This record gives sequence, structure tokens and C-alpha cells, in this order.
Amino acid sequence: MNEASLDALAAAMAAASTVTVLTGAGVSADSGVPTFRDAGEGLWARFRPEELASPEAFDHDPDTVWQWYRWRQQCVQAVEPNAGHRALARLEADLPDLRLITQNVDGLHARAGHRNVIEFHGNLQVNVCHAEGRRVTVDDEADSPPACPRCGALVRPGVVWFGEAIPPAALEQAVAAAEACDVLLAAGTSAQVYPAAGLIDLARRHGATTAAINPDASALDPALDIRIAMGAAEALPALRDRVAAITGGS
Ligand code: OAD
Repeated sequence: MNEASLDALAAAMAAASTVTVLTGAGVSADSGVPTFRDAGEGLWARFRPEELASPEAFDHDPDTVWQWYRWRQQCVQAVEPNAGHRALARLEADLPDLRLITQNVDGLHARAGHRNVIEFHGNLQVNVCHAEGRRVTVDDEADSPPACPRCGALVRPGVVWFGEAIPPAALEQAVAAAEACDVLLAAGTSAQVYPAAGLIDLARRHGATTAAINPDASALDPALDIRIAMGAAEALPALRDRVAAITGGS
């Protein structure tokens, strides 16, 4: 079943002018980064989002929010990209136009050698001024958020919080990628958080073949053309090998 689905997806990708991949926390799960919603282990099963991942939370208790993100930053620095991240980087090099949109803030796609990554929800390793949104370089080892060197406001992690807008450049590029693609592959996402999840439907309405890699069922399933019920670190290398076999890549 998965073998036939992998073959079908590889054939569609090899024939496509543009392939767009939307990744979520499941792609980093095999590197040891916790997902958000998996039962028992997901981050939101252990922490309440509104207490940690919102501008209101930061205004109310900046030290706790800052320390939580420092902890997540340290978790991510201690892990390595996995075979799924590496396979996507190789597909980017092999295919004429592969566009990667990630909801992940862990930077693992770039560390795996992926060159162009649309970071839809920002990046944990970046800090920005909470007042002006401008990127700043600060000593982020402290237990409290440092002051912005320009305006003195608090510095915060450069990630998108609940209730905040997607960075305009990332939104624009992601919408263009969804509208332009012949194949949209969603890998390791529960597709519950908008507007990211809406990109899949947008691609479908523009005529794309839609596919997902996820070991578990998700809300996406009924509308998908191709579903691969496997972990991303196993499925993506298998997919890459099949695409290379069709296109003559190494
Ligand atoms: P979720 O935690 O909601 O979903 C992770 C998905 O990955 C689930 O559907 C799992 O079944 C699947 N999964 C688990 N292990 C996997 C594996 N080895 N291979 C492939 N899939 C696997 O994470 P996201 O969909 O990424 O936003 O969550 C979206 C957003 O919600 C995040 O970017 C974050 C969060 O709130 C912000 O922080 C703004």
C-alpha cells in the first residue's frame, strides 16, 4: 500500500514543474524534537499554549516565556537533522523547482543543507525586539529577556505566537508556492493550525495533486490524492530514491 503510494508520488514529483512541500513537527520528531499535539508527548499536552506562546503571556510573565524558549532552543541545539531533512535537501538539489515551507522553528532543514526555506512560524535561534519586530543580536544566555539595544523594549524569540500574523514575506512566498505547484506534499503536520493548513486546500484549488506523509490519521486524509502512512525519516529517503530513479539522479 505505502509502496504503491510512494511510487505514485515519486512519479508525480518527477513530472512536476514545481513541487511544494509543507513540513510540520513530525518531520523533526525522529531527531528527538517533541511534536505539539501527539498524545502524551506533545508540547501542548504538557504546557498550555496561551500561558507560553502568546504576546499576552510574554507581557504578563516575560521571564517564564523567555526561559521556556531558551529551553526549547537548547533542546534543538542538542539534536541533529535526520534522514528526512537530508532527503528533502537532496530533492531540492535534484528537482527543477522545489519550494519548502516549514512550520518548524528548529532550523533543522537549513542544518541538513536545505538552501531555501520559507520559515512560516519564524526561527527559535533568532531574537527580535518585542516593540518593533526588528531582528537584534543580544546575549541570550540570561534568565530574563534582555533589552533591545536600539529602543530598550524587551527582546523576544523570533517566532510567531498565537494571535500573531505570519511574517508578510513568508506568507507571500508560501501562498505563491501553493498556487504555483503541481504537487503539494504535507509531511509531519496535523494540519490543524491556520493559515498554514489552508495552503494545502489552496494548492488543491489551483489544480495540484495533494499528498501527505504521516504515520497517523489526520483531518487532511479524506481530501488527499495520495497518503503515505509512514514516519518522515523513513518515507522521505524512499521517496527521494524513487524520484532519482525516474529522473536519472544519483
Ligand atoms: P503537530 O504536533 O500538531 O502535528 C505533528 C504531526 O506529525 C501529527 O499529525 C503526527 O501524527 C505526525 N507525526 C508524528 N511523528 C511523525 C513522524 N515520525 N513522521 C511524520 N509525521 C509524524 O505539529 P504541527 O502540525 O507542525 O505553531 O503544528 C503546527 C503548529 O502548531 C506549529 O508550528 C506550532 C504549533 O502551535 C506555532 O507555534 C505558531
